Amino acid sequence: MSIIDKHKILETNATLLLIFSFIVVTIGGLVQITPLFYLENTIEKVEGMRPYTPLELAGRDIYIREGCYVCHSQMIRPMRDEVERYGHYSLAAESMYDHPHQWGSKRTGPDLARLGGRYSDEWHVDHLRNPQAVVPESVMPKYGFLEEKRIDGRYIGDLLAANAMVGVPYSQQMIDNAERDFRVQVNPDGDYDGLLERYGEDINVRNFDGQPGVSEMDALVAYLQMLGTLVDFSTFTPDASR
Ligand code: HEC
Repeated sequence: MSIIDKHKILETNATLLLIFSFIVVTIGGLVQITPLFYLENTIEKVEGMRPYTPLELAGRDIYIREGCYVCHSQMIRPMRDEVERYGHYSLAAESMYDHPHQWGSKRTGPDLARLGGRYSDEWHVDHLRNPQAVVPESVMPKYGFLEEKRIDGRYIGDLLAANAMVGVPYSQQMIDNAERDFRVQVNPDGDYDGLLERYGEDINVRNFDGQPGVSEMDALVAYLQMLGTLVDFSTFTPDASR
């Protein structure tokens, strides 16, 4: 019996064909999946990454709540047009503390992965209040109500603890001081040494919305102003080109 004839037995017997297909697919699947279990980490280590400060994390929650990801992506693809428009392509490490990640799949508005520092706080507040005042043809909704909504800081420690549970390296000290760090980031006259000590020297400490107290606007703008600013791309070389 030639090999073609043997194969004919398989092809003409539905049950046998099913069993053998299953075996082939299983082997193929294992070949793809098994190596991943033996890798400690699939994310290239990058200098500069740090967990979000309590205020930024609260701002990120507002970003998710308001559905900003429905119109904005946060992932710059490694293609020339994107890199020229938005900056260095996004690295896996840059979203390693995002639960869930905000890569997005829709760009009604521009990508926001490297938005931090591109505009002033005042620009952001004006734009969020009334996008059409800044960009007349914009279809972005108005978010002025965020200025009126104060954030009750009591839950901030729990928010950090929940993120720690899924792997973000928040220390017990960070969780214990979360509410303090949250309030002091909008108060440049306050004692924010602890905040800088815990999260790094480059933290933006400002009154983002220019109003007293911590509003949802403060938190959202604090988050927007640090997006994509953690990795120093003047010194970064990707693994592949080392
Ligand atoms: C209905 C779609 C839509 C939603 C929802 C939306 N945006 Fe936009 N956004 C746009 C469009 C379109 C633009 C470009 C025109 C403009 O600047 O207003 C834009 C622009 C922006 C810009 C300026 C980006 C740049 O590089 O110039 C920022 C910042 C921004 N949006 C933030 C947000 C945030 C934060 C939210 C959630 C609170 C949000 N957007 C929700 C559509 C949207």
